[in-house]
Amino acid sequence: MIGFEAHANALDALKARDRYRVLVPRKGIDFASNDYLGLANSDTLHNAAISALDRGVALGAGASRLLRGNDREHEALEEEAAAFFGAQKALFFGGGFVANTAIFSTLPRYGDLIVYDALVHASAHDGMRLGRAQTVAFEHNDVSHAEVLINEWRAQGGTGRIWLAFETVYSMDGDLAPMRDLAALAQSHNAVLVADEAHATGVLGVQGRGLLQAYEGQVDLLTLHTCGKALGGSGALVCGAASLIDTLINRARGFIFATAPSPLTAALVRAALLALQQEPSPSDALAKHIAHAHCEAVQKCGLPTPQSQIIPVVIGEDKQTMAVANRMQARGFDVRGIRPPTVPRGTARLRISITLNTSLAEISDMFSALAEELESAPNV
Ligand SMILES: Cc1ncc(COP(=O)(O)O)c(C=O)c1O
Repeated sequence: MIGFEAHANALDALKARDRYRVLVPRKGIDFASNDYLGLANSDTLHNAAISALDRGVALGAGASRLLRGNDREHEALEEEAAAFFGAQKALFFGGGFVANTAIFSTLPRYGDLIVYDALVHASAHDGMRLGRAQTVAFEHNDVSHAEVLINEWRAQGGTGRIWLAFETVYSMDGDLAPMRDLAALAQSHNAVLVADEAHATGVLGVQGRGLLQAYEGQVDLLTLHTCGKALGGSGALVCGAASLIDTLINRARGFIFATAPSPLTAALVRAALLALQQEPSPSDALAKHIAHAHCEAVQKCGLPTPQSQIIPVVIGEDKQTMAVANRMQARGFDVRGIRPPTVPRGTARLRISITLNTSLAEISDMFSALAEELESAPNV
């Protein structure tokens, strides 16, 4: 048998630095998932699956969409999503990661510039690496820095299109993008706004439609709505101008050379989008949980006022962060530690996420326990 000493040594090095990861079974009260609306294991989606199977929806697509894999569930979902998110067209991908790599590797062209927030998701980075456009990062949420970079590029002779990339809610910090300023910047430079709404979809905006509804029609918008987080299923919807969506269909390798997502999954996402449109909206129920969690975080733990359902508790040092997370887990709260390289070095943190899988009382109990653990942890 071939030896894999180099791999084993690299793993040992991770262990020595406390960066070694293992898969563990799910347990404890959910303060870690992105199942914000509690849909993943809900009657809503169970019933949608049963009714989809009853009407003969297939489990597998059997091929790429461009071959025999195109199913009417995919097409119905895309039509409904385009209408719901206010876009000309939508395209369903197997996941947000592949959708982001498709967007960034395919749409910005040679001679264009992607100006991206320094904290955008790994999938956007991978897409940019595969693409042909130039790329430059602006300091997190610093729109004036983005403008300086655009002006410098123009001054150096850059003539292509600008693509301004950001997340509306940042996955590890829970803060929101300065949408109004980004939209104004895009408008003044004729740029396309590329917004990853992964953690806003289903949570923020009217009916959980995300945070860019207000800018529709003002600027060119391309949005990514992932379906594996608040929508409780899997996959991702890219929404935007018809010519961009058609370009993805014709050119995006992650779309063309991949088996289409399961039609059953498309049916579940359709049901989740319908659920968002019910009265009262599940995102309104979540808003109450979030408001309660914000009060508890500030009052009991002295945290800065959070901005969304994602509440970071930055501890700094990797080992100590994991120790606090372990102690919270031992007390029955599934709170996870996040270490570099997922977050910048020296900013290891607990990432607390608020979902409808927990009660208000459980949120209160968790913050009481967290306050005690932070108090007893040295140097926190
Ligand atoms: C901001 C952001 N974009 C994209 C993705 C990828 O989405 P998916 O999990 O559907 O592949 C994630 C998931 O971690 C994310 O947090």
